[in-house]
Amino acid sequence: MASLHLVLITAVIICFCHLPANASQRRPRALVTQITQDPASQRYTVEIRQRTPLRIQRLVLDIEEDYMWVRCDNKSYISSTYSPLGCSAQLCKSYQYSGCGTCYGSRGPGCNNNTCVVAVQGSRSVELAQDVLVLPSSDGSNPGPLARFPQLAFACDLSSNRVISGTVGVAGMTSSTLALPSQLSAAEGFSRKFAMCLPSGNAPGALFFGDEPLVFLPPPGRDLSSQIIRTPLIKNSVYTDVFYLGVQRIEVGGVNVAIDAEKLRFDKDGRGGTKLSTVVRYTQLASPIYNSLEGVFTSVAKKMNITRVASVSPFGACFDSSGVGSTRVGPAVPTIDIVLQGNSTTTWRIFGANSMVRVNNKVLCLGFVDGGDNLQQSIVIGTYQMQDNLLQFDLATSTLGFSSSLLFGQTTCSNFNFTATS
Ligand SMILES: *[C@@H]1O[C@H](CO)[C@@H](O)[C@H](O)[C@H]1NC(C)=O
Ligand SMILES: *[C@@H]1O[C@H](CO)[C@@H](O)[C@H](O)[C@H]1NC(C)=O
Ligand SMILES: *[C@@H]1O[C@H](CO)[C@@H](O)[C@H](O)[C@H]1NC(C)=O
Ligand SMILES: *[C@@H]1O[C@H](CO)[C@@H](O)[C@H](O)[C@H]1NC(C)=O
Ligand SMILES: *[C@@H]1O[C@H](CO)[C@@H](O)[C@H](O)[C@H]1NC(C)=O
Repeated sequence: MASLHLVLITAVIICFCHLPANASQRRPRALVTQITQDPASQRYTVEIRQRTPLRIQRLVLDIEEDYMWVRCDNKSYISSTYSPLGCSAQLCKSYQYSGCGTCYGSRGPGCNNNTCVVAVQGSRSVELAQDVLVLPSSDGSNPGPLARFPQLAFACDLSSNRVISGTVGVAGMTSSTLALPSQLSAAEGFSRKFAMCLPSGNAPGALFFGDEPLVFLPPPGRDLSSQIIRTPLIKNSVYTDVFYLGVQRIEVGGVNVAIDAEKLRFDKDGRGGTKLSTVVRYTQLASPIYNSLEGVFTSVAKKMNITRVASVSPFGACFDSSGVGSTRVGPAVPTIDIVLQGNSTTTWRIFGANSMVRVNNKVLCLGFVDGGDNLQQSIVIGTYQMQDNLLQFDLATSTLGFSSSLLFGQTTCSNFNFTATS
């Protein structure tokens, strides 16, 4: 009996002794992962580790998707720790587009009964489940020890037709309770924030969850979180969890672009206004706004002796690049100022690196496109305009923090030091 007690006590001690090392008892205040651009689709993808045994996989980064989803078709989801999310789970009930599902296929990941489901593309319902997810923690300067989330909820989709080649699904990043930022911060107790820095080249950029600092090389490293300008994220009562900005006006080289103020507000159906998108590459503008911008940009450029040439699809305004100088922040063209809600300094200034697209060695085009008359939002800010800018989404305070172009400080989104420290 005594020896049995001893064995038990020893076992307990061993167990406690191992906890800090194995379970990373020190809670991370932030997480970091790499963002890479997929050349074929031009989408940005992030790396995660998921399942048991852990597998490294890529997900498309999507700030308009409410939850993470992965393909589960063709028995491709293999994990000993998969568990369907019950209909009565708080996470299920907290999501307004969830229901309780029955599946008539063969039982397995993606097909269980009495499971929380979400509606996809209007008609299909997809099972929600929980499994292990692992991401590197970060002190803001490097990745650190891996942080483990034993029960991260995601949707397990039995249809693969939405998947982009080289990825297994999508990392949903809206302000929904099911999206990654809310789930990760709830599990670790850090701030409900994420920051993304989309790279402009092949080297990876960085996605951060949680608290600052956000340090980018060159040494000694600049903490960009201290240089952030903040503007409110606007609520759209129809699409509640997506990120909208309060654009007040647009100026080119100090000249106002005439825009019907109605277009910058939501109507009763949630149309109009300005949204941020990681799906759209080049910022789309409703036709009247596009035409105004193109006109003002062309006339301001003309005063700088920049001549217009034939347009190259999908762009409308293209210019002879031989007359265009170059600067640290890209081609020397008129700056485009997006004046946002806040005070007079709350302006997102877009320089040549983010406004001009080099289509060949003679032609530079204005990297904004005419979205036609039926755009859901009047302005959809795309990834070309966001790359090499740091964007921090603070979901607790509903504010967007943004940096000026990182190129100004001679750094880029690829200058986060991804050498892991332990
Ligand atoms: C399903 O999996 C099998 C075996 O791994 C593979 O040969 C087949 O091509 C897959 N089918 C599809 C549609 O992915
Ligand atoms: C779910 O329940 C239905 C009817 O109650 C049954 O036909 C079906 O096989 C079950 N599905 C699974 C995956 O067990
Ligand atoms: C544009 O070109 C004209 C004629 O060559 C010259 O007089 C003027 O100074 C130039 N303007 C700028 C802004 O370079
Ligand atoms: C403008 O806002 C910034 C931060 O949003 C603040 O630091 C600054 O003091 C404000 N300036 C004025 C004049 O209110
Ligand atoms: C990146 O971080 C590692 C680990 O802290 C450090 O040894 C290395 O010098 C850093 N690289 C640069 C370029 O600063």
